[in-house]
Amino acid sequence: MHTLPDLPYSYDALGKYISADIMKLHHDKHHQTYVDKLNVALDATPELKERPLEELLKSLDTLPEGVRAAVRNQGGGHYNHALFWQWMSPNGGGEPTGELAEKLVERYGSYQGFVDEFTTKSLGVFGSGWAWLQPNMDIITTSNQDTPIMQGLDAPLLGLDVWEHAYYLDYKNKRDDYVKAWWNVVNWEFVAGRLKAND
Ligand SMILES: [Fe+2]
Repeated sequence: MHTLPDLPYSYDALGKYISADIMKLHHDKHHQTYVDKLNVALDATPELKERPLEELLKSLDTLPEGVRAAVRNQGGGHYNHALFWQWMSPNGGGEPTGELAEKLVERYGSYQGFVDEFTTKSLGVFGSGWAWLQPNMDIITTSNQDTPIMQGLDAPLLGLDVWEHAYYLDYKNKRDDYVKAWWNVVNWEFVAGRLKAND
């Protein structure tokens, strides 16, 4: 059984940038639904129930056809959102330091250069999807709940949910305002830890 992880902070902790209403809806309803639908799908295929979610996502092609789409969409949604909550923090924002900062500057010229490129790519996602920073410093995007590990890529260092459900209550259709605000809550400590784990 997959379960919904608790938020690592209170619903209103990011309130200035992302309201408690959004956090409640996004975590308690959207993420919970991914978890529930994943469990329903796996109920029908007991041999997959014990396998870690990451492993299932990395081997979508080998899964029985009847369950593949559910693992991709609901499992991807669960995996992405479980990380997304950790990629934000009430103590977030500012700029990364150390090795992560060095690598970003090396690739994008400056921290701002990275922010600009990531923002541009996030705004360029047509419809629902995600933008990612990969351990090799590539910035990529995926549609729906697809996640880089489904594509044979490394697990992302950082990801941004640009589904409308992530911002519509606060920002209506203004995805650019949401992305601009989101930089103020990015948990760089968590991102740096993922880079270290990747070394
Ligand atoms: Fe979401």
